[in-house]
Amino acid sequence: MPAIDVPAIRHRFPALAITEGGRPVAYFDGPGGTQVPQTVIDAMTRYLRTMNANHGGHFLTSQRSDALLEHAHEVVADLLCADPDEVKFGANMTTLNFALSRSIGATLGPGDEVVVTWLDHEANVGPWEALARERDVVVRRVDVRTDDCTLDLDALRDAIGPRTRHVAVGWASNAVGTINPVAEIVRLAHDAGATVSVDAVAYAPHVGIDVREVDCDFLLCSAYKFYGPHVGVLYGKRALLDSLPAFKVRPAEDRWETGTQNHEGIAGTAAAVEYLAEVGERFGTPFAEGLSRYGGRRLALKAAMAAIRSTEMELFGRLVDGLESLPGIRMWGILDRARFDERCPTIAFRLADQPPSVTTEALGRLGMFAWDGDYYATGLMERLGLAESGGAVRVGLMHYNTPDEVDRLVDALRDLAR
Ligand SMILES: Cc1ncc(COP(=O)(O)O)c(C=O)c1O
Repeated sequence: MPAIDVPAIRHRFPALAITEGGRPVAYFDGPGGTQVPQTVIDAMTRYLRTMNANHGGHFLTSQRSDALLEHAHEVVADLLCADPDEVKFGANMTTLNFALSRSIGATLGPGDEVVVTWLDHEANVGPWEALARERDVVVRRVDVRTDDCTLDLDALRDAIGPRTRHVAVGWASNAVGTINPVAEIVRLAHDAGATVSVDAVAYAPHVGIDVREVDCDFLLCSAYKFYGPHVGVLYGKRALLDSLPAFKVRPAEDRWETGTQNHEGIAGTAAAVEYLAEVGERFGTPFAEGLSRYGGRRLALKAAMAAIRSTEMELFGRLVDGLESLPGIRMWGILDRARFDERCPTIAFRLADQPPSVTTEALGRLGMFAWDGDYYATGLMERLGLAESGGAVRVGLMHYNTPDEVDRLVDALRDLAR
């Protein structure tokens, strides 16, 4: 029995009722972006109808808007186990990471080193490479083990040295699902005197986060990957956010939230986190191991993510069983069931020599939505030797996916594999 009553929560997501050719569509594109519950849509509409205003005015709508923004910082801080003033909203992860790398970059000089990885999304690599070109900073890129798509930790240890000033690492791969041992990586970096930023975009939808526990200096994620609208989130330790050079205009109060924010999106982001807390209250096991240190909304969120994790990974086992039964399939990522706690429910594969775009187009015609290509995990696809030939098909499961959908996908792939 899954921890979550999936049919009950599916009713909350209007887009899950869309049909094509008389059949409900099935979303396997979660790693590219998730659907949103009605409460997120309502929160965004409510913002625009009742409190649409700029920041800091002496009148009703501005006061309501500011109260909403304050609330949103508190709610997202609970998701990450941070303080509200350590949470910064922005356009998306990529834009926030360009701002972060530019600020850290302003403290670096020729010969200073930044460590990135071949497993990461380009949004966690490109901004640091741009810095290297501008400031003569050396970027070291840590390799992946191509057999199971895990980070080569020995290579990471070798890459971190006395000149390392910053390590930018992903918590989970958006392409093949691998979870990196972030707490250990943070320890290695801190021992060398370097700061660490963690790209949690592909991790936050699947597993509970406690930034204090892993002790990362910065963490980035995107609300549209965890049932919210298109808004990015940056967490930073207060001392660093306050001391790094920031790129802001003179009158602005906040050093990181530049310009007027996407207020309605931030309202929707708070509602997405509140939806997750409700999942925790309804389906979570608040007395589960490791949760006794949390209370209130933080406890509900941790319980939600534990329930989501077990529900998704149970379904993922069914998906991998089905995929493994297909003739000629090649899969990338951890396949050993005993190591499934080292991965998220996202998998990349190819049906024999069928171009991945042919597979996803055929699935699309059948109302099953999946991505092909490199999904900006460009370096990984290069290392796997797939970049020149169309990458791979990517299927990701979220807590709203069902066993019926997975069986339908596997049946369709079996036909396509013939
Ligand atoms: C792992 C990972 N990092 C970063 C990004 C970029 O996020 P954004 O679209 O918010 O810039 C993505 C988006 O797919 C991602 O999956």
